[in-house]
Amino acid sequence: MPSSTDFFGQRNAQAVLKHGVLARYAHYFAGRAGAATQGRVAFIDGYAGEGRYEDGSPGSPLLLASQATRAEMFGREVKLAFVEQDDARRHQLQRSLEENQVEADQILGGSLELVVDGLIDRYERHAILLFVDPFGLAFSRPTLERILGRRTRQQPIDVLYHFSLSAVARMGRAGVLDGPTSGQNAAQLDAALGDINWRADFEGADDPRAPTRAALAVATRFGQSVGTTAGLPSTGVPVRQRPGQLPKYVLMLFSADPKAHWDYADVAGKAHVDWLHHCDRTDYEANIQRQEEAGLLPLFQESEPDKDEIEQQIRRDSLAYLARHITELLRSQGSLRPIDAVQGTYGDQLGLARATHVRSALKELHRQGVITDDATGDFWTRTILQA
Ligand SMILES: C[S@@+](CC[C@H](N)C(=O)[O-])C[C@H]1O[C@@H](n2cnc3c(N)ncnc32)[C@H](O)[C@@H]1O
Repeated sequence: MPSSTDFFGQRNAQAVLKHGVLARYAHYFAGRAGAATQGRVAFIDGYAGEGRYEDGSPGSPLLLASQATRAEMFGREVKLAFVEQDDARRHQLQRSLEENQVEADQILGGSLELVVDGLIDRYERHAILLFVDPFGLAFSRPTLERILGRRTRQQPIDVLYHFSLSAVARMGRAGVLDGPTSGQNAAQLDAALGDINWRADFEGADDPRAPTRAALAVATRFGQSVGTTAGLPSTGVPVRQRPGQLPKYVLMLFSADPKAHWDYADVAGKAHVDWLHHCDRTDYEANIQRQEEAGLLPLFQESEPDKDEIEQQIRRDSLAYLARHITELLRSQGSLRPIDAVQGTYGDQLGLARATHVRSALKELHRQGVITDDATGDFWTRTILQA
């Protein structure tokens, strides 16, 4: 992982996925939540960064700004607020916004925790999407719960929250092992995670992947626990640097709108295709460069990565997994209403598969006589029963 000082050098693959989810969800949110507030929407980027990377890729501020412009075309008026604590980065952010003719409503310094309430007061009667994307664990649980607790019908508030598995894995491990900093790590985790028993997950974890697995279990409980306190569900999608690797963080949606969770899974699945394509392209280009540097002339030119092939592979994998998974789910619990159980419906394919794949898997189960529902129309709102 790059250090926080070179973070804005080259955008890494995991940021491609994060940004794919963010941009798509912001577009969706402006449409759906903005309909309930007569078109008034605010995007708050709480850990904004520099606006763009040195390699020219847009960071979250420019992505949110372009979604704001897009949303104007369907009658939304989107206010943009950016918070960046670091002075040098905030000045760079200002320059990035100016270069792209983006007019922000607010560009604030200081810590997000100190200014977020003022922003929520300012955007009264707006639908607010708050993006919380710190390095590590920066945002405290009480602040998260307080912000979510401020939502009303006139001011819906969704939070897209970066839950750092790397930080929790590192600190959780140190927190249960003897070491000079363990007390500090444990205290920091207690403050960030609140009243969930994270220690049990890290005890006895000795293989190298165990801390990340423990952090994933903690992330799920954290989402549920915050959701219970704030009275809304959470849905988390894992973000990896590369396919096959353990995830580095979970992008968690907190929203009171059940349909938003269902659609969030779909949004994440679409971003996943772009991310896979990005990873394949990076490998392909690195390979060509290696061959050129070595003066090699390959007998057969390797074909460029193809998005359609990636789509087909995901479809095959998703259908096989979902048909099996949903059959088992129905066997154990008798019924399933997908919109109430987004994580349960997708299982391990959450963030990889999309609603179209769930529909196809259910249609196949209907054809085989496993379920009564034919999976047409808004199948996610219906209770699916075993035949
Ligand atoms: C992971 S980077 C943000 C990346 C950005 N969201 C993107 O996707 O392009 C985190 C940023 O948060 C800033 N930061 C750290 N602590 C902060 C705080 N308490 N309040 C606001 N910003 C903070 C850091 O200086 C850094 O620029």
